[in-house]
This record gives sequence, structure tokens and C-alpha cells, in this order.
Amino acid sequence: MAYDFAGDTFDLDDDNDRAIVRFVLSQALYGEATGVYCGKSLYAARSLEAARFYVRQAHQELNHLQLFADIFKELGMQPEGGHWVIKLLSAHNNYYPLKVMMEHAMGEGMVLDIFREVLLQTLPDDDPRVPSIKKKLRAVCREEEEHVAWGEKETKRLLVEHPWLRTPYYGLLEWQLAVAPLVARAFTGKEHRVLRHLPGFIAYIRERMWEQGQRLGFVPPERPGALKRAWAMAWGAALFVRSQFARSTSKLEHVYLGELGFQPEGAS
Ligand SMILES: [Fe+2]
Ligand SMILES: [Fe+2]
Repeated sequence: MAYDFAGDTFDLDDDNDRAIVRFVLSQALYGEATGVYCGKSLYAARSLEAARFYVRQAHQELNHLQLFADIFKELGMQPEGGHWVIKLLSAHNNYYPLKVMMEHAMGEGMVLDIFREVLLQTLPDDDPRVPSIKKKLRAVCREEEEHVAWGEKETKRLLVEHPWLRTPYYGLLEWQLAVAPLVARAFTGKEHRVLRHLPGFIAYIRERMWEQGQRLGFVPPERPGALKRAWAMAWGAALFVRSQFARSTSKLEHVYLGELGFQPEGAS
């Protein structure tokens, strides 16, 4: 069920509206630039399937970067830098279990919320520049859906292999839910027909991510009390700190024979 902006749109000829759209698009552009670094995960890919995914994803993210640059040019806008929250949430993580859950399943899930719900609903269809922009955005959304699906598939697999990840994963979701809405502070004090939807939209994202975490199997049916939550968040923070020291190690040269359907060396 999508969030409904009730037909409220931006006016792309109004300076105030353009400043808001420019901010949102600039975060997208920054996120796509860092998205290209998913290519780094190719080095640590544990299977041919993972290697294929990261090659395709890097290609797609590079393409998204160019598509957003084209959108800026169509609108005659100059991008600004990334917000600190976006920089934090989009930083590359070498620790695979955190990468697939935080970056692909949750992070790109939020990216999809912004592209699909905010941009596709609030850019005005009666502006002659918008149909071509929305065509690009729809193509980007289709590919982001693939990235989220990969993150969800790998998160589920990792939870089966390492059930202890459930608690830190849940704690990290609580962190993400606490930090992500801070981007909205960029709009503090601004009155606008689209911005009045912000509290409702943030609540929608929280609910959707909560439901996603339950579906993936690391969010409890009821939100735990403050103490249990703090425990999970401490675990999540500890795993995040540990992930900052993780080294990327190559895998494919150890598994390629089996992956290609040959007998692995040493096997009889
Ligand atoms: Fe992307
Ligand atoms: Fe993506």
C-alpha cells in the first residue's frame, strides 16, 4: 500500500519549490554516486550468482548516476552536496552480513520509497519536462527493486546460517529508524503543501520497514520495551563498529571450480 500525497505537487517554475526538489534530487545523485562502489563487493563475492549480481548492479548504478545528472540538466538545476545522514547511510561496508541487510534491503528500500512514492507522485504531470523525467525514474525504480530483492534474499539466507544475527539486525533497524528521519530537519520551518505530508510519510516508511524486518525474520511481533531495545541497539552498534575493521577477502578463486559445475580440487 503506497503513501498517498493526495495530488499535492511541486511547481517546477517556483524558486522555493525548486530548492526543495533540488535538495531531494541532490541526495539521490549522491546516493547513486556511492552506489557505484557496490562494484567493490565483486571482490568478496562468494558465488557466481553474487558476482553476476554485483557486476550488473555496478553497471546499473553508474547508469542511474547519469540519469539523475540528465534530470538535473532537464530542469536547469545545479546539484548540491549530500546530507550527512545520506553520507552515513550510503557508506560502503566490507562486512557482507551488514552490507546486504543495511545497504540493500533497508537502504535501497528507503531509496525506492523516495523515488517511487515522493518523486513519482509530487513532480507535476502538467509540466512538459516531467514525462521524460518520470520515464527515467520508473526505469531506475525497476532496477532498485532488484537490488532490494537481492538484499532480502541474502539477509534471509544469512539468518538461517547465523541465527545470532537476529538481535544486532533488529538493533540496526532501530538505529536506521532513529537516524533516517533526521534528513527531514533540512525542511524545518518551511511551509509547503507537499512538506505537510512529511510526518505521515515518515510514519509510512517506519511501518513499511518494520513490516519488512518482520517478513525477513529479525523483528519481533511486538516492539520490545526500552531495555531490550537498548540491548539490541548496543549489539547492532558493536557489530557496526566491528564491520568498520572488516577486510574484504577474495572468494571466487577458491570456489570457481564447484561453481562452474566441475569437481572442486581435492574432492573425490
Ligand atoms: Fe541506484
Ligand atoms: Fe540500487
